Amino acid sequence: MSSWSPASWRSCPARQMPVYPDSEHLSQVEARLASLPPLVCVDEVLTLKKELSRVNLGQAFLLQGGDCAESFAEFSTNTVRDTFRVLMQMAVVLTFGSSCHVVKVGRMAGQFAKPRSAETEQHEGLEIPVYRGDIVNDTKRTLEARQPDPERMLGAYYQSAATLNLLHALAQGGDASLERVQAWNLDFVRATPAAHDYRQLAARIDETMGFMRACGFDTSNSETLKKTRLYTSHEALLLPYEQALTHQDAEGDHWYDLSAHMLWIGDRTRLCEGAHVEFARGISNPLGIKVGPTLEPDDLISLLDKLNPDNEPGRITLIVRMGAQQVEEKLPALIRAVQKEGRQLIWSSDPMHGNTVTVNGYKTRNLDCILREIRSFFAIHQAEGTRVGGIHLEMTGQNVTECLGGTPLISPDLLGKCYRTHCDPRLNANQSLEVAFLVADTLKVCRQIQVQQ
Ligand code: PEP
Ligand code: CO
Repeated sequence: MSSWSPASWRSCPARQMPVYPDSEHLSQVEARLASLPPLVCVDEVLTLKKELSRVNLGQAFLLQGGDCAESFAEFSTNTVRDTFRVLMQMAVVLTFGSSCHVVKVGRMAGQFAKPRSAETEQHEGLEIPVYRGDIVNDTKRTLEARQPDPERMLGAYYQSAATLNLLHALAQGGDASLERVQAWNLDFVRATPAAHDYRQLAARIDETMGFMRACGFDTSNSETLKKTRLYTSHEALLLPYEQALTHQDAEGDHWYDLSAHMLWIGDRTRLCEGAHVEFARGISNPLGIKVGPTLEPDDLISLLDKLNPDNEPGRITLIVRMGAQQVEEKLPALIRAVQKEGRQLIWSSDPMHGNTVTVNGYKTRNLDCILREIRSFFAIHQAEGTRVGGIHLEMTGQNVTECLGGTPLISPDLLGKCYRTHCDPRLNANQSLEVAFLVADTLKVCRQIQVQQ
């Protein structure tokens, strides 16, 4: 394979890349970003890879979730903390329900750039460029606001740094202590059935904690009970930003994109000869690949040849987003190709992106379809003799009404009540918990069957 450098993607065809009007200004921002400290460190990236290799072995489960797109305007302590808490709740449900270690990865602290289906949109008779995420341009529908502005990369960098700082404080400073499982229940979910199930589970955890204390383990002497780790991830879409944050390790042996612990390649940019795959092949971070219904088994193997030539466990997570309608038709052939070739990878389900519909003018997703895709995903793996390793969700700790369904029911009439996403519709905390309970129950059954075999 030809030699790689952090800039070698520049000679490959690049989809979804904004065209900056002032290339001199872009270069200045890139140089500035490259001179700033990395956002995560190599040791943390390596630890995540080790944890993910445990997922490969069936000893752990990957929970990945967060906003579709983080926004500059909605950045606050509350938004970050509430999403953190819902992720913690889901992790507890999964861990306790399935007796399986959960690797927690947020779509946070860097998830700003968005791939779009069209280059432009019509507004009041004017054709304007589409919104590509706050790291590129503004949501406002004017020609001026939609002009890509490189300064926004610096805004995204500093917001990511502040988010990481807060996440670190929450994970390490006592907020994540297992003695606080009851406190993670957000106010607006308190009266729902999912919250009721959660409270029961939390009571069982309290009981277990009491037993552990009696045995001499508590939060004063056990780091595991008091602290957690939440890794960060985002789509490696805006390559000038990703390149600027790519550094060599101290030994000079490997390159890491230190804008996040894990990066993924989107469904629209996973072209084998394209710029995004070229960039990703040279960084040593764990990688996700989004896989929609158009990926053929041979192309998947070519992608794996390029992105994981040494077949390293923990390196690749395949994030499958077929949609409830197509998963049964498309997934088995991919699984069989991977099995035949003996490739190491984590099968994760993204039940969000293949189930997007428009209702009453709102882009939405129905929780029933989401749950159906998850059930099918598990059933297919069961039938093929392979293992589900993770789940990938767009969710938030805010009480939004963006996805239909759940209890209390979000009906089409309610969509407009609190529809705040800048891009795709997210599960609210209550809906996220429902998903977590379903996954935990299914995972438990699968693990019992695997033990018996
Ligand atoms: C996303 O995860 O927000 C996304 C755009 O996904 P995909 O590449 O799978 O469409
Ligand atoms: Co999305």
